[in-house]
Amino acid sequence: MIVIENLLSVDEVAQFRANLAEVPFNDGKETAMGMAASVKNNGQADAQHPRVMQLANVLLGKLGNHPKVVAGALPQRIFPPCFNRYSETQTYGYHVDAAIMRLPNSADVLRSDMSMTVFLSHLDEYEGGELVIQTGFGEQRIRCEAGSAILYPSSSLHKVTPVTKGERIAAITWMQSMVSDQQIRETLFQLDQSIQSLINESNANREQLDNLHHVYHNLIRKFSVV
Ligand code: NI
Repeated sequence: MIVIENLLSVDEVAQFRANLAEVPFNDGKETAMGMAASVKNNGQADAQHPRVMQLANVLLGKLGNHPKVVAGALPQRIFPPCFNRYSETQTYGYHVDAAIMRLPNSADVLRSDMSMTVFLSHLDEYEGGELVIQTGFGEQRIRCEAGSAILYPSSSLHKVTPVTKGERIAAITWMQSMVSDQQIRETLFQLDQSIQSLINESNANREQLDNLHHVYHNLIRKFSVV
């Protein structure tokens, strides 16, 4: 699980929220596949609405350019982000995300390797509404400040607990990774993050850094499928 802090600035969050206040929301069940529909109770912004499509594109651009997103997911394809809203009492019970998703208005499909939630509500605007992810080390409960995001393996069972007060607005998306093996992807991310922290050290040895870069890129070459 990877936390991306400040993916969006305070101003950008405000712009997303102002736009989302003016677009139509539909019942989230309409877009849930199979068994997920029976546990899904939220609202989802109309993905065909021009303004929603524009917001999705802005967020797509942000994701594709963010070094930590790129290093963590090694994305080959990113699903156009959807915007959802949980009002008081709304919830989304335990489910797994569909493995294969058809990209909107396209004949292409995407295999979901990584799922992402971008939080658009400030923590003091709602209560409850935790993203709960089952991991090998038990349940992880997540609530992030507006503008921050969480990336987690699509293979995990997860849910959103009932909102008990206020309203929780978020964007969600899925990514197909160039490296489908989760363990290898995680190890590559670890290596990347170690290299990044070395780069930030003033006394880092240039030649050793080049060597590590070399290893990193050769591993990507070996394990990516594009
Ligand atoms: Ni889900």
